[in-house]
Amino acid sequence: MYFNDDKIIGICGAAWGDEGKGKFTDVFADEAHIIARAQGGCNAGHTVIVGDMKLKLHQVPSGIIYPDKLNVIGNGVVLDPRVLVENEIKNLTAQGISTDNLKISGDAHIIMPWHRIIDRAREWRLAKNKIGTTARGIGPAYADKANRCGIRMNDLYDKKVLTEKIRVIAKEKEALLFGAWKLPVETFAEWMNMTDQLDGLWLKDGKFNVQTIADSYSDWTAKLKNYVTDTKKLINSAIKKNKKILLEGAQGLLLDIDHGTYPFVTSSNCSAGGFATGLGIPPQSIDRIYNILSAYTTRVGAGPFPTELGSEEEISSENGNNKMSFDQSAQLAKTAQDDYTVGKVIRHIAGEFGTTTGRPRRTGWFDAVACSLAAKINGPDVIITKLDVLDVMPKIKICTAYEYTGPETWYNGKTIKSGDKFTAFPTDARILKYCRAAEFIEFEGWNSNITSAEIYDELPTLAKKYLAGIEETTGCNIKLVSVGPKRSQTIIK
Ligand code: GDP
Ligand code: IMO
Ligand code: MG
Repeated sequence: MYFNDDKIIGICGAAWGDEGKGKFTDVFADEAHIIARAQGGCNAGHTVIVGDMKLKLHQVPSGIIYPDKLNVIGNGVVLDPRVLVENEIKNLTAQGISTDNLKISGDAHIIMPWHRIIDRAREWRLAKNKIGTTARGIGPAYADKANRCGIRMNDLYDKKVLTEKIRVIAKEKEALLFGAWKLPVETFAEWMNMTDQLDGLWLKDGKFNVQTIADSYSDWTAKLKNYVTDTKKLINSAIKKNKKILLEGAQGLLLDIDHGTYPFVTSSNCSAGGFATGLGIPPQSIDRIYNILSAYTTRVGAGPFPTELGSEEEISSENGNNKMSFDQSAQLAKTAQDDYTVGKVIRHIAGEFGTTTGRPRRTGWFDAVACSLAAKINGPDVIITKLDVLDVMPKIKICTAYEYTGPETWYNGKTIKSGDKFTAFPTDARILKYCRAAEFIEFEGWNSNITSAEIYDELPTLAKKYLAGIEETTGCNIKLVSVGPKRSQTIIK
């Protein structure tokens, strides 16, 4: 139904993450033989809802619920074995889901304790200019990979060699943290304890405890031994046998290290290009990429967001525990006058609170300037999610142009000055931070409940008009529309 004649399909976030990749990986996985992750790590939080069960997955692919499909963590992922063993596999097992069908690349780089500490320490040093990372050690782990001093899954199985590596690397990291960066030992200890109940185990005399780290990693990896394999070989042999393979992206195009709003990005290629390197498959073997885009735009963490409704400061007091009910939100939608309140209605109706960190997500109108990048870099096919969230909105907007309001500067081969209009997305955060959402197309809200619509024609005319507006302003082709978090709430256009 969804694969049609395609053999290899990629699901890519096309904005700043959390577009609904988990839902669609689960939906497509029904027809696939293999589901594979190629990049990112436990910064990702993918939600899968099946019946009454809600799964929150970080590193394990969202096809894990199907016992007859292989789920692969590819070489491009930075893997935290502690999170995998103590959190994900434990939770899945408790929910009655087997992980026997999980395979891990021996070449995947490993998140070590110092990666989390360096992640926090960089943010601490950046202070007001911080990126707002998930503090999962992702950036520092990819940096070590690029710097050729990372530890990979296969390295964890020779304890003597591993202990020696840890001893050498730990010294280097301590010199950086306590020497160059002058991180107070107490802060270090506090962060260590914050990284999920480690109770200072990994510290000794204010330093990394080499032996305990080696022992802990050896314990976890012993538990993972049956999962580790040459995943490149496994997938390429499946390709030869004409098997259907689903590639599950993490994060989103606007967080891509090359194509995103640098430096407010993650540290991997979350664009379609990342699939080939992150799994070791020929790029031409990928038949189709689906961009996942939500019907409004969201962002977690810092960085420019021109169509934002409200601001990071205004939303900081909100959290998932003081969520407004649907009725309260719908009522507020009718009277909302200011941007912050409109954004709050969207956030609370959709439950836009981070799957990984619980942070309130920033919300904004659909940004066609930013989202049109998807058609250029990933290809034109799109799945629109969360359309139902807009059911109660009296008016809905799509941003079609920015106005630059900053100082005169030079960018991409020309001088730009205040008052200049941008219809192509300036990904550089230095420029983007001065871009104001200046031109919008305004749509009438459809003001009805679309969550049980099953076919495209059941959608209200005004909702279809809005979808046509997204296509026209982004150059994308909408193939599927999602009207709720469940598998069944999926409409083929
Ligand atoms: P991912 O990171 O892209 O997998 O997305 P997340 O799982 O972090 O966040 C998406 C959220 O939206 C989850 O809570 C999903 O259950 C939910 N969701 C997905 N599609 C829809 C939809 O069409 N409508 C609504 N209301 N929620 C959706
Ligand atoms: P999924 O796969 C939304 C954001 C962080 C921060 C920036 C860098 O669930 O869509 P990092 O920890 O990666 O160094 O943080 O990227 N970020 C995400 N935002 N969804 C995600 O994943 C994200 N993964 C990272 O908030 O702004
Ligand atoms: Mg997410």
